[in-house]
Amino acid sequence: MDRPVADSLINELAEQYGTPLYIYNANIIGERIADLRRFDVIRYAEKANANLSLLNWIRDQGVTIDTVSVWEIERALKAGYTASEIVFTADLFDHHISKFLREYHVHVNLGSPDMLEQYTQLKTGREVTLRINPGFGHGHDRKVNTGGEESKHGIWHESLPAVLKRAGKLGLKVTGIHMHIGSGSDFTHLSRVREAISKAAFMAKEHLTTISVGGGLPVPYRPDEKPFDVAHYCADWLATKKTIEAELGKSINMEVEPGRYLVAECGLLVCEVRGIKSSGAVNYILVDAGFDNLIRPAMYGAYHHITIPGRASAGIKPQVVAGPLCESADVFTQTKGGYIEPRPLPETQAGDLLCIHNAGAYTASMASNYNSRPLAAEVLVENGAARLVRQRQSLEDMLSNEIDYLQANSR
Ligand code: LLP
Repeated sequence: MDRPVADSLINELAEQYGTPLYIYNANIIGERIADLRRFDVIRYAEKANANLSLLNWIRDQGVTIDTVSVWEIERALKAGYTASEIVFTADLFDHHISKFLREYHVHVNLGSPDMLEQYTQLKTGREVTLRINPGFGHGHDRKVNTGGEESKHGIWHESLPAVLKRAGKLGLKVTGIHMHIGSGSDFTHLSRVREAISKAAFMAKEHLTTISVGGGLPVPYRPDEKPFDVAHYCADWLATKKTIEAELGKSINMEVEPGRYLVAECGLLVCEVRGIKSSGAVNYILVDAGFDNLIRPAMYGAYHHITIPGRASAGIKPQVVAGPLCESADVFTQTKGGYIEPRPLPETQAGDLLCIHNAGAYTASMASNYNSRPLAAEVLVENGAARLVRQRQSLEDMLSNEIDYLQANSR
């Protein structure tokens, strides 16, 4: 698997900004956006990576945005998005978003029936879209399956007629139907979603102008995985759009809402090997990044490809890559259930850089301060030019909101 930026630049940036370090190549994001231009609207799911510069770069490509918290909305606004380019998708209104919506208007995509009354009370608008749970879902892990009875997301498909009536009584216009059944969908599931979306669109036809097909487009995490057939995906959805338009006798806007597909492959998490050791038969490579920087392996048993620049093939043997945190789960090479999975990797030694691939999506955006480690720095590279887009967090940043009341009182 190719690294998204040249090794010389990786070395230079690691030297300049230290490790662990996230490096993103904006040009790769541009290519992924281009793949989806056949949709009327591309709406980036901000949760995948919310770095301000990255958002601004994506906005500049004419891509709109889906947000899931008031803070994601505020970030999007800071990145230059206008309120009309933002959609807020949620299954509940917390008090923060309610306060925001009373003062500003952002389109909302409602995932629960009770939100209808709550929305009218906010007096912020009359048009809403509905997120539907079609009764089935799919995902690379149970934890990211967003359809079916065991998912809290969306309005249950059988409730749609009643919810539409309820909206009508409240004077709300349902202008769109949205379905996102999970991350990592395949074509078999997609054909079921296409059917379910068509059915829902027909029920909500009165004021319908928009259909959002959600995100969930997969990326190849393993070197032997085939790239997603995005042309097939677009063609299928365009065919569905045509059928719906013919049935409804009007044109509709079809939106796609990818997170991972746009940003996963552009990113690397670069860390430094700090030591090697063997515990019985298991060989460990110890690096200075942990699950505070990338939680996907610990959380989902997710595979992230690993390469060691400058050490292509010498002395390959099964090795486990582990971080500095105080938990056995702090391992980048593990399967679901937390079983370590040694990986054939070349011989390495302290001081080598090690790259964890596909680290642009759900990596920095899911990072934490566990073990009081600072959030890592981020660099965005465009046409070979690198810019720091997040400084490494300082101890002062980390402590800035904490109050040591004992010390405060003794003064
Ligand atoms: N739209 C909605 C309403 C969503 O809930 C999501 C993801 C997306 C779009 C974008 O999905 P994507 O295209 O990125 O698959 N932390 C997990 C992924 C959780 C996704 C949650 N919702 C991971 O690291 O795999």
